[in-house]
Amino acid sequence: MTDLFSKFDSLIQERETLLATGVKDPFSLVMEEVKSPTVAICNGKETILLGTYNYMGMTFDPDVQAAGLKALKEFGSGTTGSRVLNGTYSPHKDCEEALKEFYAMDHAMVFSTGYQANLGIISTLAGKGDYVILDIDSHASIYDGCALGNAEIVAFRHNDVEALEKRLKRLPAEAGKLVVLEGVYSMLGDVAPLKEMIRVSKENGAMVLVDEAHSMGFIGENGRGVAEDQGVINDVDFIIGTFSKSVGTVGGFCVSNHPKFEILRLVCRPYVFTASLPPSVMATASTSIRKLMHSGNKRAHLWENSKKLHKGLRDLGFKLGTDEAQSAIIAVIMPDLERGAMMWQALLQEGLYVNLARPPATPANMTLLRCSLCAEHTSEQVDQILGMFEAAGKAVGAI
Ligand SMILES: Cc1ncc(COP(=O)(O)O)c(C=O)c1O
Repeated sequence: MTDLFSKFDSLIQERETLLATGVKDPFSLVMEEVKSPTVAICNGKETILLGTYNYMGMTFDPDVQAAGLKALKEFGSGTTGSRVLNGTYSPHKDCEEALKEFYAMDHAMVFSTGYQANLGIISTLAGKGDYVILDIDSHASIYDGCALGNAEIVAFRHNDVEALEKRLKRLPAEAGKLVVLEGVYSMLGDVAPLKEMIRVSKENGAMVLVDEAHSMGFIGENGRGVAEDQGVINDVDFIIGTFSKSVGTVGGFCVSNHPKFEILRLVCRPYVFTASLPPSVMATASTSIRKLMHSGNKRAHLWENSKKLHKGLRDLGFKLGTDEAQSAIIAVIMPDLERGAMMWQALLQEGLYVNLARPPATPANMTLLRCSLCAEHTSEQVDQILGMFEAAGKAVGAI
């Protein structure tokens, strides 16, 4: 018998070597108590959260919590069914209305996660014989959507408009083409040149899908994302997003103005063949989305936090993923996994949680300490965070 686990042997070995150095497992942290969007108790210690993607801090918003509790009482704990059978309750419809209002678009479809939204929309739109042209650093859910649909994957160099154009020009003129882009790339926190990319995509007869998971609620005048910020939202055919970041709960969605969009509810397998989200989750999402429409002050404060952290870390001598703050993600580049894990642990001991990211999730084999800021971080907390980076960085010799 061939042990089907043997393909994981090198990973098992790498983990054992790392843990033998005395570093705690960075991928099994437990939040024992969560006090606010920015503070939790981890290993019995009060810890500032700087790696949660809770950009707008909506998880403890009193209106959001009250809406969830009310729906839990009124509709019960779950739907026990698919959206196309018994799983559509009025909170699901209301959540889709909230999304249509937020994006000023004609159609909205809610999925159980953002992962399933990409999986479902990409695999349903682009099938065998069609082409998905994507940035090489695309999220796993985008690659998995291509695999599920059996489309031809054509990858181009990260954020490279010319490379995208060259790839597009090589494809048969009559073939179905979907260009898939992200507004903010979550590993380095850099923004895509969507304006130029969408222009070349349209010139070459492709439809365009933009995943705005890391920009919704924060980037753009109304928080609609990078496409709004760059003035091209009306040229995007499909926007994908998630409720697990700025919205502060769980779920995913696609919004669009395409006149035939609604047929997707009947043909999209990751939408049809799974249970819908609990109504309490839908109520928290729609309340949060509607509040995000009027959160200009919070957006401004989040930008201040992001710029302050970026400058502070750079001044301390850390190598960062971008030259300036482009989003609410600031990535600190570590020389290797071992030192990245040591720094991660030293920060945790100081009372700071960040995400440790490693290949294959990261581009160019990088080990990253990814920091994601929250609109609820105070300016004093950002000062404290910088102090913790300085102490940990010196302790492990990273600066
Ligand atoms: C770009 C991007 N798309 C989609 C997702 C999936 O979102 P969800 O957590 O709702 O499954 C993520 C989550 O990390 C993401 O970063």
